[in-house]
Amino acid sequence: MTDSYANILNDFNGLQTESGFSSALRRENDGVYIPSLRNDHAALYRTLLFTVKPRRILEAGTLYGYSSILAAETLNEVFGNDFRIDTVEVDQENALIAAENIEKAGFSGNIRIINGDAEEVFSCLEGPYDLVFLDCSKSSYKEMFPDVKRLLRQGGLLLADDVCYHGKLEGAQGETVPHKHRTIVNSLRDFLQTVSDDNDFAAFVDKMDDGMLVAVKK
Ligand SMILES: C[S@@+](CC[C@H](N)C(=O)[O-])C[C@H]1O[C@@H](n2cnc3c(N)ncnc32)[C@H](O)[C@@H]1O
Repeated sequence: MTDSYANILNDFNGLQTESGFSSALRRENDGVYIPSLRNDHAALYRTLLFTVKPRRILEAGTLYGYSSILAAETLNEVFGNDFRIDTVEVDQENALIAAENIEKAGFSGNIRIINGDAEEVFSCLEGPYDLVFLDCSKSSYKEMFPDVKRLLRQGGLLLADDVCYHGKLEGAQGETVPHKHRTIVNSLRDFLQTVSDDNDFAAFVDKMDDGMLVAVKK
């Protein structure tokens, strides 16, 4: 393998998301661990957004706004100004920082931040949404699934990040998981089993990085 071939493979996913305010926001945080979407899943998310072309997105876990802004930049290329993202963040300080970033990115009119617990907020929302992206506390995914299903339109996409939980789900069922991770691991296993058993969904787990569930409501 030549060096240039190796480089394009190493850099490919990063290069896909190397423009716009979202990429500047991620670079600002270089060297500091921020649990935003990594390059690989950011590139996957962007590719799926161009495929599904969702006009209405619901996200759980805003943090500082990176994934919302990345989605807005993508949808702006597809629809101009005619799209809407609702994003739910439980931490008030994160929500304020996200609001500032979203304002700077020019998407305040498209992205609504809802400060609250996604589990509670989702139960009060009305659909339909074209895409739901879960990127909040992993132990909430299973509890949120009935509302996610209610809120998603037929043909809509569900994405759930970090479902492999740092590789901790890979062990056989019943294998000992350190106590501090057990609740989350069991809850994620139940969540994946629930989606897998649900005949209204066709789904796939991408095991790259910390894993991403990609599921379509049939
Ligand atoms: C992994 S970060 C989200 C990263 C973000 N999507 C991005 O790519 O930049 C998780 C965020 O979810 C928030 N969070 C955790 N549990 C939550 C819940 N139950 N409801 C809403 N937000 C939650 C955390 O405060 C944190 O900001």
